[in-house]
Amino acid sequence: MSRARKKKKLFVKTWGCQMNEYDSDRLLEVMGEIGFEESAEMNDADVIVLNTCHIREKAAEKVYSELGRIKQVRNARLQEGHDTTIVVAGCVAQAEGREILARAPLVNIVIGPQSYHRLADYVFSAQQHKQRIVDTDFPADLKFEHLPQRSGRKLTAFLTVQEGCDKFCTFCVVPYTRGGEYSRPADEIITEARELVAGGTREITLLGQNVNAWHGKGKKGAPRNLAGLLEQLAGIDGLARIRYVTSHPNDMSDDLINAHRDIDRLMPYLHLPFQSGSDRILKAMNRNHDVEKYIDIIEKVRDARPDIALSTDIIVGFPGETDADFEDTMKLVDRVKYAQAFSFKYSARPGTTAAKMEGQVEPHVASERLQRLQEVLKEQQLEFNRHLVGRELPVLLEKPGRLAQQLVGRSPYLQPVHVMAPAHLIGEIVTVKIVETTRNSLAGELVPHVETGKSRTLV
Ligand code: 5AD
Ligand code: SF4
Repeated sequence: MSRARKKKKLFVKTWGCQMNEYDSDRLLEVMGEIGFEESAEMNDADVIVLNTCHIREKAAEKVYSELGRIKQVRNARLQEGHDTTIVVAGCVAQAEGREILARAPLVNIVIGPQSYHRLADYVFSAQQHKQRIVDTDFPADLKFEHLPQRSGRKLTAFLTVQEGCDKFCTFCVVPYTRGGEYSRPADEIITEARELVAGGTREITLLGQNVNAWHGKGKKGAPRNLAGLLEQLAGIDGLARIRYVTSHPNDMSDDLINAHRDIDRLMPYLHLPFQSGSDRILKAMNRNHDVEKYIDIIEKVRDARPDIALSTDIIVGFPGETDADFEDTMKLVDRVKYAQAFSFKYSARPGTTAAKMEGQVEPHVASERLQRLQEVLKEQQLEFNRHLVGRELPVLLEKPGRLAQQLVGRSPYLQPVHVMAPAHLIGEIVTVKIVETTRNSLAGELVPHVETGKSRTLV
């Protein structure tokens, strides 16, 4: 009898932020070590993982309704004699814990974001011993140490450098679901980045709930901040582009601002949430900064890197937000001018301080505000893209486009760029003359000249 076995299949559904996308990649790598391969279909998967997000409204309910659908898939497979192991991971797993096992008898494993390195063992126990497992332990340090090497199959990759948050903004669940702030040691990060680059990665986005709060030690134990880490990463041969997300205004050090001036490979893009343009609301949100401080940072960043694309997160309808407060938000948007922005209607998260606050805003009022805000943001985004028409931009070509002979890449400012170009250029940074734009993307023509990864960004 042949000893060759068919590989077991793993299907991962990912909700939410880039941190979750990164975690899903790492989960696949953990399971890859014990012979699993990724499946695009849940119908033929031996293990189904739901990597959940808790930041949006009714997050847990969405997970339970997805589990309802999965039950049918699992039952159909059972009739064909196949067992399916069901795993709930991510922030909903962290927040709900054991409750998930109680409400959804089909779930075998509930695993929080800090325990992914143990997933392979848990899947084994669940399959062999029919155990049901809950692991929602905290410290993040053990996880990173035990995750396998990066395989670097991707041209652009995420790399988590920091997790968790101690800031306790009153609307936010992150400090409860991801735990306290934790920075991975610099050596570990550099090793992972090198592994990625050796495997072909050309662009790395550093991730953290408060990525700019990252801190570590440099040579001889001297303290180091994110700017120092960026500088070291920029020295890795073959790594053409670096980005980082998401930042808090209070951790935007002068060093980091200057890094946007001094480090060529650091892309001219900054996501800096301000949440509200009203000092009163910022206080109620426990953001610990005011509008003036935010504007001051933006001005410094623009001095350091005049062409920088700015992005932000904004919440409307926070408890107690008056029309005047909302107008202050509109004023701030108008003053800064964003290349991109994410705006949300406030919604109460159980367990957060804001959920208990008085003055919850009527839903229709919040909806109207959100609509007005989004119209302005869309216009600003279009305007930002329009000013690039006629310019030549360095574009990292990532994959084939929808049309024959077309490729899609990203500009330094993060917009997708469509261009007719031969497939062998995937992975190269080429110069594209922008001829057309929509709100979400740019289109252009290839300028015949291939750059090396070391060249300065042409903007
Ligand atoms: N209601 C609305 N938006 C929220 N965000 C976080 N929590 C809430 C909430 N309870 C938004 C913030 C944050 C982004 C990731 O999600 O703007 O920056
Ligand atoms: Fe949430 Fe505030 Fe921490 Fe960001 S800084 S993760 S919004 S608590």
